[in-house]
Amino acid sequence: MPGTEATKALTAAVVDSFHDTPDPRLRELLQGLVRHLHGYVRELRPTMKEWEYAVEYLTAVGQKCDPTRQEFILLSDVLGVSMLVETVNEQSGGTESTVLGPFHVVESPKRDSGDNIDLLGTGTPGVVSVRVMAVDGSPLAGANVDVWQCNEDGFYDVQQPEIQPLGNGRGLFRTDHEGRLWFRTVVPSHYPIPTDGPVGLLLDSTERHPYRPAHIHFIVEADGYRPLTTHIFVADSPYLDSDAVFAVKESLVVDFARVDDEEEARRRQVTAPFRLAEFDITVEPEKNVEPEKNKDAR
Ligand code: BEZ
Ligand code: FE
Repeated sequence: MPGTEATKALTAAVVDSFHDTPDPRLRELLQGLVRHLHGYVRELRPTMKEWEYAVEYLTAVGQKCDPTRQEFILLSDVLGVSMLVETVNEQSGGTESTVLGPFHVVESPKRDSGDNIDLLGTGTPGVVSVRVMAVDGSPLAGANVDVWQCNEDGFYDVQQPEIQPLGNGRGLFRTDHEGRLWFRTVVPSHYPIPTDGPVGLLLDSTERHPYRPAHIHFIVEADGYRPLTTHIFVADSPYLDSDAVFAVKESLVVDFARVDDEEEARRRQVTAPFRLAEFDITVEPEKNVEPEKNKDAR
């Protein structure tokens, strides 16, 4: 390849320009980024026109962002990077994590166990019952569990401000003394990720579909435990095998069983038939925090 030596010298010079970065992790991340980016360019040799297009494309991604729309997260999601970052940070033992997604953009309203997070009452009624525990099986009381989901038509509240009140499909719960909480809701639908921006153009140009299987998001936080960001997926949903953002893990697929029992429906304050999902979430202990004096000594 013409100029190989010159391109290698350029890469070395840029890597070296970060040599004096005081924070060692920042230095490592930037030098690695330069090596990999330069490697990509050396291998694929984009034309100037292609490079300009890439810059225009990333500019459009940024311009599409606003307080309730995060096109950069969406781009990271469809390229599988969000899922890769989740996976490399995962520890074994607890419930598997999956992507945060771009719709955790408003604070979830505080709710009590048993509350209904569906403020409109239009879809198939569902009851979700969760138990949060440590890896040794002991229940975790007082854990915060943040929940968000789309409605039965596949839209989050922030996507339909004229139809859904803000906070619809969302709730911030606390577990009881047995580590439990439950809530009423509608069974969420599978849905397309937003396609009216540059990420939609990418999917369209590459003949990829935009759909995600039906799911409910969770962030679980308990003192002394690693925060967990995950979903449960509805077991009979389409697209479980071709999620547009590569986020399905087999262990997170949960049966939303049909319940016809009127007595059980009354107890759960819903009408029969309804769909019931019951599952456990296990969180891992936080890694030991370095004592302050050791941090300074580095
Ligand atoms: C979501 O599940 O909310 C989501 C995740 C990634 C991209 C788009 C949506
Ligand atoms: Fe979602």
